[in-house]
Amino acid sequence: MFRLRLRTDPQWASLATAHPEEILSDHAWCEQKAASTAISLINQYSEFPTLVEAMTDLVREEWEHFSRVLEILKRRGLRLRPQRRDNYVNELMAWRTTSHHKLDRLRDHLLVAAMVEARSCDRFRVLSENISDPELRAFYRDLMESEATHYTVFITLARELTGRALTDARWTNLLDYEDAIIRKYCQGTAIHG
Ligand SMILES: [Fe+2]
Ligand SMILES: [Fe+2]
Repeated sequence: MFRLRLRTDPQWASLATAHPEEILSDHAWCEQKAASTAISLINQYSEFPTLVEAMTDLVREEWEHFSRVLEILKRRGLRLRPQRRDNYVNELMAWRTTSHHKLDRLRDHLLVAAMVEARSCDRFRVLSENISDPELRAFYRDLMESEATHYTVFITLARELTGRALTDARWTNLLDYEDAIIRKYCQGTAIHG
């Protein structure tokens, strides 16, 4: 299922790590947004107990990631820069259906969240394999595994709550859509841009 159309070029790692404060700040905000997304899903879909339970665990984990990135910034004498516009995520959000059926909207919401996790996982894999700093290598390796699990949580919820066949068809459509977006942002110094 995972199979992103375009895997991150290892060269992106040197680009990203040449600007540590920028990349770590952007990363911190990604973790903060992941926690916010999980809270927003609880607010909008509280009638689904499995979703509420899974998102509660996720908020805890993403918040821990956020605090670990802040810790690394602090130890290195770097500051948390202001949040930037995340064009990649905004464009993915625009893919979601405006259907009147709540389950259709839920499916797309979960799939966009799964995509953000899948792309983050791919970015962290490239960072963990291509940077020399041992602390950051281990850190990104750990996060890569964690984001892969989150991707599975979102896909599984979408399949269980909104139907497997429809979920898989929409996911294939989203993979094509994401491919076009990431090609525009693959040279930036952000986790998704
Ligand atoms: Fe995370
Ligand atoms: Fe995550």
